[in-house]
Amino acid sequence: MKRKSKIANPDMTNFPDYLKKLIPQGVPRYFDEGNYINSILDALEENHNILIVGPTGTGKTHIIRNIAQLLKLPVLEVSFTLGTDVTDIVGRYELKQNKTEWIYGPLPSAMMYGTIFYADEINMARPDVVSRLHPCLDDRRSLMVSEHEEELIEAHHRFRFIGAMNPVELGYAGTRPLSPALKRRFEEIIYIDYPKKETELNILKNRTKLRDEKTLSNMIEVARKIRRYHKEGLVSSPATPGNLIAWAALIARGNSPIDSMEKTILHQTCDSEDSRKLVSDMVVQTMG
Ligand SMILES: Nc1ncnc2c1ncn2[C@@H]1O[C@H](COP(=O)(O)OP(=O)(O)OP(=O)(O)O)[C@@H](O)[C@H]1O
Ligand SMILES: [Mg+2]
Repeated sequence: MKRKSKIANPDMTNFPDYLKKLIPQGVPRYFDEGNYINSILDALEENHNILIVGPTGTGKTHIIRNIAQLLKLPVLEVSFTLGTDVTDIVGRYELKQNKTEWIYGPLPSAMMYGTIFYADEINMARPDVVSRLHPCLDDRRSLMVSEHEEELIEAHHRFRFIGAMNPVELGYAGTRPLSPALKRRFEEIIYIDYPKKETELNILKNRTKLRDEKTLSNMIEVARKIRRYHKEGLVSSPATPGNLIAWAALIARGNSPIDSMEKTILHQTCDSEDSRKLVSDMVVQTMG
């Protein structure tokens, strides 16, 4: 790390073994066309809560893992759904050898040890869960664990909170806006979109063995068209860089681009006969 950091943890001290294992390693290169890594590092140094908003597959999780690798900090991650309840984040009593034992959940663990807490799909969190996040995110920086002897957990100076979600306007199934009270606790909200053509080309070259420029460029064109279809409501999901990486890997193994597209792109993005026909025809035409 070239910059001086309040939260970098070069010697990985103070973490129990299970948290040391959550320090990311070997994260592939992140192609950073928006200077997002520096923006997020600055925000973390300011102790700002950060919300990253971007469509699926725009590298939100990848960036956080990349940053945690740089800072040598564990990432405690919760992927929120409507089924996530308070015990999933705060903790619960569990029966161990005929004795009940309190097991801290990921949020108090992140606060006690000073790790990154990554709240994926945070807009899916239920109101009773969100209300437990509020005091951790504002000036109190603390969590009252009423379930466990009224214990008050004060955040370690390195504790950082990063949320992520898909943009509400894209209409992903079940997405809903953040409550205003939660939204105003994020000092920084960063929007990320799909990469430019050249960047996506670099990602594919970096992550796969496929080198044929023409094929790669046509594949990216396919993905961009499917993203447009998704915005117009013609297909159920956009094509992600991850889908392209999987497609390129099959082509690099000698499979035909059209056959391998079905497994890695078509069924990932289409849920109906009509949309599959639309995408298949477009792929045949685009791939030439
Ligand atoms: N700019 C980038 N540089 C390198 N790889 C990228 C980039 N953007 C996306 N990827 C790759 O695309 C794939 C999807 O990224 P990731 O899982 O981080 O997306 P996400 O935004 O977290 O998606 P979701 O909203 O579905 O959780 C990964 O393999 C990731 O490495
Ligand atoms: Mg993700």
